[in-house]
Amino acid sequence: MARHIVQEANEAPDGRRVAPAAVRNSGPLIEALRVRLPSQGCILEVASGTGQHAAAFAAAFPALDWIPSDVDPCQRDSIAAWRRESGLKNFAEPLAIDIAAPWPVARGRAQVVLTINLLHLIPEPFVLRLFEEARAALSDRGRMIVYGPFLRGSSYASDGDRAFDASLRDRDPAIGYKSVEAVSDVALATGLTPIATDAMPANNLLLTFAAP
Ligand SMILES: C[S@@+](CC[C@H](N)C(=O)[O-])C[C@H]1O[C@@H](n2cnc3c(N)ncnc32)[C@H](O)[C@@H]1O
Repeated sequence: MARHIVQEANEAPDGRRVAPAAVRNSGPLIEALRVRLPSQGCILEVASGTGQHAAAFAAAFPALDWIPSDVDPCQRDSIAAWRRESGLKNFAEPLAIDIAAPWPVARGRAQVVLTINLLHLIPEPFVLRLFEEARAALSDRGRMIVYGPFLRGSSYASDGDRAFDASLRDRDPAIGYKSVEAVSDVALATGLTPIATDAMPANNLLLTFAAP
C-alpha cells in the first residue's frame, strides 16, 4: 500500500465521516460534472475519501452507476456508511484501490474514471500509474476527470496556493502541486487526450481527458 495523507474529517455515530472541503465543493462539482459526465454508464471514483461525494453524486446522477474506492480502510468504512444511509441503488460498495498497484477492475469497465483532490497528495510517479490504470479501466471513448489545485506552468493561482503547496512539500518533499501541462503530458503518454479545463471555485480546476 502506498503511503497517504489522512483526510481531516469529523465522524458521525453511524460511521459517516464528514470533511468540510467536500461539503463546500459538492455543489459546484455537481454543476461542472453535469456538463462532463455521460447520460448513462459506470463512474469509477478513485480516492473517494469520506464517501460524501459518492453519496451526493449518485443522488444527483441517478442514471449513472457510481463505484467509489479508497486505499484507506477507514475511508472505505465511511463510504459504506454513506452508502447505507443513502439507500441508493446506483451507489456500489467501495473497492480497495491503491492507485500505485494494479486495480481490481475489469478492462473497459468504466465510462469515466474520476478523482478529486488526489494529485497534489501523491508523488509524481504515481500520477503515471494513476493514468495507466485509469486508461485500462476506461471503455472506448471513456473519460478521465481530475479535480483539484494545480500549477499553471510554474505559476501558482494565488499566494494561498503557494503556501499550501509549501506546507505539503514540508510534510513530504515527494508530493505537492502538479502543473496542468505536466498532467496533460502524462495523460497523452497513456493515450488520453486533454479535451476541457473548467475553472472551479477556490482556484481549483476540473480537467477532462478522453480515450479514443
Ligand atoms: C484529500 S482526500 C480527498 C478525498 C475525496 N476525493 C474528497 O475530495 O473529499 C485524499 C484521499 O486520497 C486517498 N489516497 C491517498 N493515497 C492514495 C492511493 N495511493 N491510492 C488510493 N487512494 C489514495 C486518501 O485515503 C484520501 O481518502
